[in-house]
Amino acid sequence: MDGVTVIDHPLVQHKLTFMRKKETSTAGFRRLLREISTLLCYEVTRNLEMTTERIETPIQGMDAPILEGKKLVFASILRAGNGLLEGMLDLVPAARVAHVGLYRDHETLQPVEYYFKAPEDLRDRLVIVVDPMLATANSAIAAVQMLKDRGAANLRFLCLLAAPEGVERFRAAHPDVPVYTASIDSHLNEKGYIVPGLGDAGDRMYGTK
Ligand code: PRP
Ligand code: URA
Repeated sequence: MDGVTVIDHPLVQHKLTFMRKKETSTAGFRRLLREISTLLCYEVTRNLEMTTERIETPIQGMDAPILEGKKLVFASILRAGNGLLEGMLDLVPAARVAHVGLYRDHETLQPVEYYFKAPEDLRDRLVIVVDPMLATANSAIAAVQMLKDRGAANLRFLCLLAAPEGVERFRAAHPDVPVYTASIDSHLNEKGYIVPGLGDAGDRMYGTK
């Protein structure tokens, strides 16, 4: 699908299988999510714009490649987004961070906002929105809109698992925002869970129910 990248790296797919298993412990799930997020971060940043800087090696001078432009922003959709955020900050420690507090009302499946904090100057920065799950896409659509309302104009959305329904709805709502995911699963069930999925990502990360 246009604007959608499935990250099919063998290490990503292997780790994802262990995350899906229902017997994987909270500690194991959290560790795998942190590991996998560094691999996803590598892919979502693959085509960042570059420039060069004049440096001196111990041997001679050279024009060496460095990232162009202002620092990246990682926008985490709470709570589960923080599981992706940690590993991404391991790779890009200077990134700025936005937190978007949303939870899904279990009856309506509509997102309820409870927190928002972002760097002020979003306009000139690439904003990578992270959340492990894209189910109905209600949360992702709302989070991206909140960031756009604060000036963000260059965004990408990164998740671990997506439902086909969610990808379609997200792309229709925000056609300018490319989606990166490790898997597009089969469908959503009647409770809005991704099938086969991995269950509730936030609960599995934090040991809640
Ligand atoms: C989960 C997940 C997404 C959302 C996806 O969060 O982390 O934010 O559901 O579902 P959607 O695409 O149908 O909106 P949840 O609301 O369970 O909150 P949590 O991260 O605090 O557990
Ligand atoms: N949120 C989750 O954590 N899991 C799903 O399957 C759907 C939404």
